[in-house]
Amino acid sequence: MKPRKPKRPAPSALRRHWSLASDVVFLNHGSFGACPKPVLELQTELRQKMEATPVQFLWRNYEALLGPARAAVAKFVGARPRDLVFTTNATAGVNAVVRSLKLRRGDALLTTNLDYNACRNVLVESARRAGAQVQLARVPFPLRRSDQILDAIMEAVTPQTRLAMIDHVSSHSALVFPIAEIVRALAARGIETLVDGAHAPGMLPLNLGKLRPTYYTGNLHKWVCAPKGAGFLWVREEKQSHIHPAVISHGHNTPRPGYTAFQDRFDWAGTFDPTAWFCAGAAIEWMGRLLSGGWSAVRENNHRLVVKARRLLCRRLDLEAPCPESMLGAMATLPLPERFQSRSRSGKIETEQLDLYDEFGIEVPLLRFGQPERRWFRISAQVYNTKQEYEYLAEAIDCVS
Ligand SMILES: Cc1ncc(COP(=O)(O)O)c(C=O)c1O
Repeated sequence: MKPRKPKRPAPSALRRHWSLASDVVFLNHGSFGACPKPVLELQTELRQKMEATPVQFLWRNYEALLGPARAAVAKFVGARPRDLVFTTNATAGVNAVVRSLKLRRGDALLTTNLDYNACRNVLVESARRAGAQVQLARVPFPLRRSDQILDAIMEAVTPQTRLAMIDHVSSHSALVFPIAEIVRALAARGIETLVDGAHAPGMLPLNLGKLRPTYYTGNLHKWVCAPKGAGFLWVREEKQSHIHPAVISHGHNTPRPGYTAFQDRFDWAGTFDPTAWFCAGAAIEWMGRLLSGGWSAVRENNHRLVVKARRLLCRRLDLEAPCPESMLGAMATLPLPERFQSRSRSGKIETEQLDLYDEFGIEVPLLRFGQPERRWFRISAQVYNTKQEYEYLAEAIDCVS
């Protein structure tokens, strides 16, 4: 007999600060983030100023608006402002670094099987052009210990490895990588590390001055809740002279007093809407005031909630958790129940994902990966989510045929 259709839970009190549709249970903060209303209101104000006085805003006052935003982001990630530039997203950060490398035939770029497809493509295309190769470290998933990640990466290293692109938090598998140990071990072998931190800022505490990879790129529009189009790239000082943005513009030959050449190159990529960058500091500040306890309370809240949600889903759907709780940040990936596993994909979006959205109003990503391929779903936990929403998800999955 088909289970009775569950009742949609009431939204949390904090949800009123977000513009999320009231008829959607939003369990996918991880894909594109969600920006709170006060930050969006600031962005609207800034856009009005930009349209009222375009030249004043985009040219004469540009640095005055960019500077405080950069300083706030740098402080938040434990960096010096001079080592940090804004990008529109982590994909742009990866492109800037990898496409700036002077690769030679025979060189190798290392990544893992759990990396993000868009970023892997940058390695593949750059390697192809140079006659270099891409090496794949095979991280097991499910896994029991974080040193299985470190071991898989180090086993894949060869004397040809020039750079390793390593996720701080992986996308489909939602694992927090032991990034400090990985950076240290690769540096000891003379290999540059590009950390893909797309999910890390706002989910995990960051201190780039201490971590000191060669390069680190992150998003602010995911877990910092800045408007979309806000990312950053941090580069070790001694490597900055070689790194160019994917889009070359005025800063290539036009220095500004008081700025590094690295900043000159990245601060302007042609006419665009920089208001997402200008709002990054406000997002950090607003989210940091939301819970007593500041940002560490936000991170702790989200981690605890995802742990609780994962336990609940495992119990309710009889699932086995694929990694220890200590490897979770604010997302978790679980296998879909066995009855879904042998179904093949029929279109761009999985049928059951459409059912969950159309019939139950649940936004949750369904994924396929691994060898042999298995089917998974990934949950996110942000301050506006509640335990009842994951209970509802469990009931809805039970109802999906
Ligand atoms: C690990 C990882 N890298 C890179 C990205 C790309 O982020 P963006 O599309 O904002 O550039 C994502 C997006 O989810 C990701 O999960």
